[in-house]
Amino acid sequence: MLNRRNFLTAAVGVAAAGGLAACAKEDDSSSTSSSGDGGSKKLTLGFSQVGSESGWRSANTDSVKASAKEAGYTLKFSDAQQKQENQISAIRSYIAQKVDVIAFSPVVVTGWDAVLKEAKTAKIPVVLTDRSVDTADESLYVTLVGSDFTDEGRRAAKILEKVLETAGHKGAVKIAQLEGTTGAAPAIERAKGFKEVMDADHKDDWKIVVSQTGDFTRAGGKQVMAAFLQSNPDIDVLFAHNDDMGIGAIQAIEAAGKKPGKDILIVTVDGVKDGFVAMSEGKINAIVECNPLLGPQLMEVVQKVKDGETVERWIKTKESDFMQDQAKDALPTRKY
Ligand code: AHR
Repeated sequence: MLNRRNFLTAAVGVAAAGGLAACAKEDDSSSTSSSGDGGSKKLTLGFSQVGSESGWRSANTDSVKASAKEAGYTLKFSDAQQKQENQISAIRSYIAQKVDVIAFSPVVVTGWDAVLKEAKTAKIPVVLTDRSVDTADESLYVTLVGSDFTDEGRRAAKILEKVLETAGHKGAVKIAQLEGTTGAAPAIERAKGFKEVMDADHKDDWKIVVSQTGDFTRAGGKQVMAAFLQSNPDIDVLFAHNDDMGIGAIQAIEAAGKKPGKDILIVTVDGVKDGFVAMSEGKINAIVECNPLLGPQLMEVVQKVKDGETVERWIKTKESDFMQDQAKDALPTRKY
């Protein structure tokens, strides 16, 4: 897995690159405000987004676009529709267009070395955002701006302890896990963090009885949960790697004649508005926040990288956890 070290010098510079066409769903938004640099060329950022699979992702996209505009950058934005080959084409296109900086949220962790080497050869710095990559060559990207997903998994397990206590659940706990996209950093690391706590503190009482990917989508969560309920009708707990899969699962649980949040206790990750609505209705028991509003931090880092400044190797996001009894008060203040 990725070795994330603190503090590394940013590689900076722009050079010529070959030409390649990008994938579908590309959108170039030129900002309206000035860069404030006395009329010199505006910074051009090429950004390859994972897709639009979840409420989290929509909030993240909005944050990136609004912050680029606010910073006065020219943003070349592309939605990869959850396909790695689309992201690779988009990155190649940004190299060909000689953008100043490339940022992307990698759909999966592996398979990036070749295209990242092309960016390095073209002297275009790469900033990862949200998700990490697995590479032996740490010089292939400058920094990661995003959450600690392993810790989110640990926090989910710790908050489940409180949920079980609040519900008065005693004895064995049969857990169903809805995993995110197979091979994606948040899916791998949330599962890892959760298991870490389970192995350390709940070897004898907790058991993951079923675990499968729902691809971070509502439809996936609903379909997989329906199958889980067929094979394991006595599930006590659902740990869903995001709110959207949790919300899809709630529909499947209700369709099976059970009460989400009561018959099956539910812990999810993200903290999008719809997740908080479900929690305020008593259908989700706890949410581990994963903040998608990464745009402002990303733009700040992109500018530093362009200016040749040193940046931290991993710029982590601050997050909180929420129990059901906090949902109603927290809901009106949620920003995404
Ligand atoms: O990478 C962040 C994850 O991706 C979010 O938790 C999930 O909702 C999204 O699709």
